Amino acid sequence: MEENNGNISGRRKFLIKSGLAAVAVPFTQVSCQPSKDKVVEVENEDSFEFAFLTDIHIKPEMNAPKGFQMAINKVNALNPDFVITGGDLVYDTMRGNYEQSESLFSLYKEMSKGFNMPVYNCIGNHDLFAIYEESPESEDHPDYKYGMWERHFGKTYYSFDHKGWHFITLNSLEVTDNKRYKGFYHQEQLEWLKKDIAKVDKATPIVITTHIPMICTYIQLNGGSGSRSVANASEVFKILENHNLKLVLQGHIHWKEYGFVNDRFHFLTGGSIAGNGWKGRRHNTKEGFVKIKVKGNDFSWEYIDHGWEAERLKMANKSV
Ligand SMILES: [Fe+2]
Repeated sequence: MEENNGNISGRRKFLIKSGLAAVAVPFTQVSCQPSKDKVVEVENEDSFEFAFLTDIHIKPEMNAPKGFQMAINKVNALNPDFVITGGDLVYDTMRGNYEQSESLFSLYKEMSKGFNMPVYNCIGNHDLFAIYEESPESEDHPDYKYGMWERHFGKTYYSFDHKGWHFITLNSLEVTDNKRYKGFYHQEQLEWLKKDIAKVDKATPIVITTHIPMICTYIQLNGGSGSRSVANASEVFKILENHNLKLVLQGHIHWKEYGFVNDRFHFLTGGSIAGNGWKGRRHNTKEGFVKIKVKGNDFSWEYIDHGWEAERLKMANKSV
C-alpha cells in the first residue's frame, strides 16, 4: 500500500493492548485445549479502536485551546490505536494573512503532540490558505490553497493500513473561478486512488475519510444550496465498486448523521469538536467525537462527549 507521507502528527507510539497481539489467529477461531471438555475462545487480537475527531477549528480565542485539550485528554483516556481527523483543523486560513495562518497551524501542531497515539490528518475548507478574495496574499504564494497544509502535514490524500483494514484520507476541496471553495475530488487524486486501490485485496475492509461529505441529507432537510456534499463523489464510489468499502467518515456539517447504504457500506458524519465556533451546539449536535471499535470485518461506533458543553456553560455562568 502507499505509505502515508508524513501526515501523522503527534507521537508515533503504537500501544499493544493484548499480550496475544503477536499471534496471528483469525478472531472467529476457537482453540481446543488439551482437556476435551474445555474450549477456550481465543482473544481477538484483530480488534482495535480508533477515534475520529472532526472540525476542530482551533484558534487562540473563545477558550478553544482549553476545549481541544479536553478532547485530547478524553482520547488519551480511551487509548485508541490512532486518531483520524476530519478537516477544518484550524479557523481559519481562507481569508488569512500569512503570519496569522501560520500561527494557527503551529498551534494545532503543537497541541496535537499531546495525543498519545498517531494522528492522521485530513484537509478541510478552513485549512485552504488564502483562497478567498479578501485574503491579502496572492495566488502565487507558495502556500496558496493546499500549500500551507502540505508544508505542515504532507500530502492531502494518502492511505495507510492497520491490522488488516485499509484507510484512505481524501482531499475533498477545490477552488472555484470566483474564489470560493467547493466539494470536489480532483482528477490527479482519482488517478492516484485507482492505483492505490489496485493494490488492495478485494476482501480488505476499507474506510474513507473526507471533509466534505460524500453523502449528506442536510439540504433535503433544510433546503438551500452550497457545498454540503462532494459534486463528483460518485466517481469514488465507482472506483471502489468491487472492493469491500465499509465506512465513509465525514466532517464539515458539524452534525451527527449515520446511514447504511444497500447492505453495503455505512456513512457517518462525526459532529464536531468546536460546535458553533466554540460558543454552543451547531444544529443541536453536542460537541464531541466518534470512537470506532473494529472487530474482524465489522465495527461499532459511539459518540463521545468530551465535556466541553458542561465546561463552557460553567464558564459562562461564572462570568455573568
Ligand atoms: Fe467546520
